[in-house]
Amino acid sequence: MSDTSFDAEVTAKAAESGANASARFRERMATGSARPGVVDTMRVDHLASKVIRALNDIVIEDRVSYEEYNALKAWLIKVGEDGEWPLFLDVWLEHSVETVANAHREGSKGTIEGPYYIEDAPDLPWNGTIPMRDDEPGTPLVFTGQARAVDGTPLPGAKIELWHADDLGFYSQFAPGLPEWNLRGTWTANEDGRYEIHTLRPAAYQIPIDGACGQLIAAAGWHAWRPAHLHFKVSAPGYQLITTQLYFPGDPHNDDDIASAVKPELILDPKPDPAGEGVVVDYDFVLDLES
Ligand code: DHB
Ligand code: FE
Repeated sequence: MSDTSFDAEVTAKAAESGANASARFRERMATGSARPGVVDTMRVDHLASKVIRALNDIVIEDRVSYEEYNALKAWLIKVGEDGEWPLFLDVWLEHSVETVANAHREGSKGTIEGPYYIEDAPDLPWNGTIPMRDDEPGTPLVFTGQARAVDGTPLPGAKIELWHADDLGFYSQFAPGLPEWNLRGTWTANEDGRYEIHTLRPAAYQIPIDGACGQLIAAAGWHAWRPAHLHFKVSAPGYQLITTQLYFPGDPHNDDDIASAVKPELILDPKPDPAGEGVVVDYDFVLDLES
């Protein structure tokens, strides 16, 4: 395979990931976990008026031309056609929503969920290995730690859901050609609240660049990278579920993540595995009591 056809294949897979994210979000809204309650009329009035006013202020202040206005209109239409609203919102807005939602937490830091979570990933024991292909490329990673409450109480039976991209930056069920549950799993902490997760070190991830979001990135001269990351949801009965991501030191994009989702507390400290070729890392998840 020549380099060009490889790039074309990677680009096509990325485009499909964007569109699939819209379809999956629509399903989750219809059937379950992401379904919103009714938003109060006064709150819609307040927020929608504020958004419209802010946009009008920008047009006046920055003397936006008809040319620019029409470019924006065409681009907004394309975001929808490409199915990229989940990408756009999760990259450029979700981090602020997360900041507001988790401001009160005393336990582990959260960060954005992003567009690629799937519920009910396969159940694994406290020390299980993530589902992967026989020839899955990547460095082995052993992730250990303890789920506990803010007061130090261990949380036996805590659920640790992990999902991450493969070595090319693709997520199963969004990019085509990957086994359904590739690099997705649910671990149950042991009687001491401990877990030992066997997976691979994920690669850095570039958001799809051949759709509307990519068009914006190119037009503005930005880059499309997120640093390598592991996504987690950790929960236990009586405690607030936490959605977070963990990162690796030295990644060039930790300081300029396109999704603004890196926090210093979320950067791991991996060490060479004394027992093998890969790396080991320890990280505890600390959950807040349900309010
Ligand atoms: C996007 C992808 C991610 O993997 C992530 O964690 C956040 C955002 C995105 O493409 O929008
Ligand atoms: Fe991600």
